[in-house]
Amino acid sequence: MEAKDQKILDEILESHSYDQTAVIGIMQDIQKVYRYLPEEMLCYIAKKLHLSEAKVYGVATFYENFSLEPKGKYIIKICDGTACHVRQSTAILDEIRGFLGVTGAKPTTEDMMFTVETVSCLGACGLAPVCTVNDVVHPAMTPEKARALIQELKESPEAGEEANDEN
Ligand code: FES
Repeated sequence: MEAKDQKILDEILESHSYDQTAVIGIMQDIQKVYRYLPEEMLCYIAKKLHLSEAKVYGVATFYENFSLEPKGKYIIKICDGTACHVRQSTAILDEIRGFLGVTGAKPTTEDMMFTVETVSCLGACGLAPVCTVNDVVHPAMTPEKARALIQELKESPEAGEEANDEN
């Protein structure tokens, strides 16, 4: 791990007073910076918090919001819950995957700009079909609107930066 990364981790650990019971918050902070939880960082915080690596891994894999794989700058979640599914969310997912050249098995673009995921319900069923980009909700989507949204993100990265900051 590079010195600058170690410094970032030390600051995060410090801000949580090296408290074992804050391990979830610590991991959330790490993921905010790196967009996933690199293995070496989990080992590092385990050591610093005097927890076993197995314990830390257990927490990281238990919560589905944590990722052990690198993700793109923009994380697009397509809701496939019942309300969205009956309103044709599959067509939106297919459009986005086709446009970005990603699949369920390979959800992140080569340039690390986009990760496409499905979720079971985003809790906004009245706005179905819904997708989120870095947790910003986009209601009443259609394949055409989804494609336009991604095109916009590709062309004006600063729009996504704002969305990222809200994370
Ligand atoms: S089913 Fe999509 S938001 Fe609930």
